[in-house]
Amino acid sequence: MEVVVRPTKPDTSWLAARLIAAAIKAKPQLVLGLATGRTMERLYAKLVQIHREERLDFSLVRTFNLDEYIGLPEEDENSYRYYMNHHLFDHINIDKRNTFLPDGMTDDEAGEGERYEAAIQEAGGIDLQLLGIGRAGHIGFNEPLSALQSRTRAKALTPLTIAENSGEFADPARIPRRAITMGVGTILEAKRLLVLVTGDSKAEILAKAIEGPITSMISATAIQLHRNVHVICDEEAAAGLSGREYYDWIFANEPEWEAYR
Ligand code: F6R
Repeated sequence: MEVVVRPTKPDTSWLAARLIAAAIKAKPQLVLGLATGRTMERLYAKLVQIHREERLDFSLVRTFNLDEYIGLPEEDENSYRYYMNHHLFDHINIDKRNTFLPDGMTDDEAGEGERYEAAIQEAGGIDLQLLGIGRAGHIGFNEPLSALQSRTRAKALTPLTIAENSGEFADPARIPRRAITMGVGTILEAKRLLVLVTGDSKAEILAKAIEGPITSMISATAIQLHRNVHVICDEEAAAGLSGREYYDWIFANEPEWEAYR
């Protein structure tokens, strides 16, 4: 794992967008795992900008989102399909038939999990998975006690997650109580993980995720098991990290970061 701390939120989105753009240029048919949430909004705006200004080509890219609320149709403005169209897909040259999210309106939740896993396999697996971390310690919607080998399935959201996300809903009481999410095991099979975390409200959970013991109580700690992880965070989110000096030293000295310093 490598942890890169940048001064501000815009600096983190710039770096994450640059890494994704480089991955797409290196492999135009990239299979990209996507996340939603406030942190990702700035990143998607940057990707749209790179597409417009530098013609970053998404025409062959395939995407798989981590999760979708159960019970919200695609046209609902709080569905993650709506979010993705609004923040990214409507503004780039991606073929929407190559963009996948779990079907939150399914009447066969178990079957939907299996179907989604099969679609990821059929695409050749996820090359690069983008992740945020919730204050409850989740990646995707893998709430506390999610098995570290879990697969795509329906999951109940914690009261903390519901409180965190209900602000996005015009009527906060309308927030679904459950979602379909890739499992921790599904996420760990991606070839590479890119974790983006910003803001002081995430400082405590980020320190636990990176430097704490691995536990299913905090599914984000599972990223420690992966062989190829980059965590990008801002100064505020980095406030609780004890290994900060070493992380900065790596960023300053490893040749792979030269183009991004
Ligand atoms: C959403 C997702 C979640 C978010 C996390 C952080 O697809 O997978 O794990 O990444 O809840 O959300 P924000 O950025 O809103 O704090």
